[in-house]
Amino acid sequence: MDRMITRQGQNKLDQRRLLGSHLTPVSVFQDYVLPDLKPLMHDHMFMDLFCGEGNLILPMLDLVPRSERTNYFRMHIFMCDADPEMVDKAISNASDYGIDHEVLETHITVRDSISSYPPMIDAGKTVHITNPPYLYVGHIMKHPEASFQASYFARDNEGYQDLYQLAMMNDLRHGIQKMFYVIPTNFLFADSASRKIRMDFLTRYNISKCRLFESRVFPHTGVNVGVFQFDLDQKGQHRKVEFDAVLENENHRVKRFILDSSNGFRPKMDLPKEQALTRGERLCAKFYLTIDEVRSSSGKSEVILVDSKNFSKGTYAKSTFFVDDRLDRRLRSNPLFVRTVDTGSENGRAGLHDIRKEFDADGIVVSGNTYRTNPIQLFVKPDLTREESVKLMHLFNNKLEKMRLESGSSFMTTYRYSSNPRYIRKYLGLKQVSAIISSFRREDLS
Ligand SMILES: C[S@@+](CC[C@H](N)C(=O)[O-])C[C@H]1O[C@@H](n2cnc3c(N)ncnc32)[C@H](O)[C@@H]1O
Repeated sequence: MDRMITRQGQNKLDQRRLLGSHLTPVSVFQDYVLPDLKPLMHDHMFMDLFCGEGNLILPMLDLVPRSERTNYFRMHIFMCDADPEMVDKAISNASDYGIDHEVLETHITVRDSISSYPPMIDAGKTVHITNPPYLYVGHIMKHPEASFQASYFARDNEGYQDLYQLAMMNDLRHGIQKMFYVIPTNFLFADSASRKIRMDFLTRYNISKCRLFESRVFPHTGVNVGVFQFDLDQKGQHRKVEFDAVLENENHRVKRFILDSSNGFRPKMDLPKEQALTRGERLCAKFYLTIDEVRSSSGKSEVILVDSKNFSKGTYAKSTFFVDDRLDRRLRSNPLFVRTVDTGSENGRAGLHDIRKEFDADGIVVSGNTYRTNPIQLFVKPDLTREESVKLMHLFNNKLEKMRLESGSSFMTTYRYSSNPRYIRKYLGLKQVSAIISSFRREDLS
């Protein structure tokens, strides 16, 4: 990793972004982790395998008399990080606490701890306190500069969606019994972006404590995070996890979560009350117009379709097709598409958008595998008039914005981080789109 970083010769900021380097403020450790560590301090070991400058572990030493710190460190603390500069800073910070160099050289080391877990860890006695790197696998696969991280997601790690998930699975595989993790709240709320990790991890671990931050924690990323204390369930696997989370806003509201494996250990989405419908014709959403359907519906009506797989120089390619009346009618009564990812501009928010206005086309076709971050043709049942579709678009987008405002978008996956919260790009899952659409009745569109 060391060689890789310097060989690439990128500027430091980019490297840090690739390594997900968002250092936890010491106050987070002092307020939310330290009180639970105190009783464990003398009979446990503590490690941070993604230690950065050491903010999540070194302040423990404040509780140890200076003259005893070197010995305490030797017996109880182990840290590493893939970035040699971070390790140097951690060593320098530890040295300011009065720890001898000879101990620091062996107890704070450069290591790629995602691909190479440190040996000789006493799993029963070691507490992992960490804020691991966060980087979405989709970003890694799409960006050549992040490609060195692609191999992490091979073999046993196939299907996980973010670097932080690999860190957690490494701990699980090594039998670590207690962990404190600072991770994105997407871990709880996202659908496909964190279902697998929840299903594999939360069948084995309980969440003993949880704080969900509703305000900014890191100076360089607006991603919503939580501090989770995980404890291995000594009784074996389970299908339900219940815990109280403190929502760290002005009120410190406590919210009870009951997660069930039948729902992928995901909290039920909090839809506004009026969505619990009993009467009326519920709208139902289907997605994607495939090239096979277009080809098998050939006829005399001319339509222009956007090719969602063919994007170059900032625009999608369009092609003319001749389709039968049935598909022609179907396209005319379905003028909307789903934008699943915020583009980063005010007008480019995830939600429903008008195909004609956006692309000057009649529909959006997908050839081959569907790709969830490209524009996706929406089909709604029952068939709607154009006016009803436009009304649906507005109702949908208003509801989504309201839900985002109320929850800090925590039910959506972060697709691209940014130092400015307004430009953090979020991903909206198609199941979430379906759930919101099915909360409307046709009567709502008149
Ligand atoms: C989110 S920062 C957190 C640092 C520290 N735990 C804290 O909370 O202040 C993540 C750290 O993981 C390191 N990192 C990224 N990929 C790594 C890897 N494969 N192995 C070890 N460390 C890695 C980065 O250099 C960065 O310091």
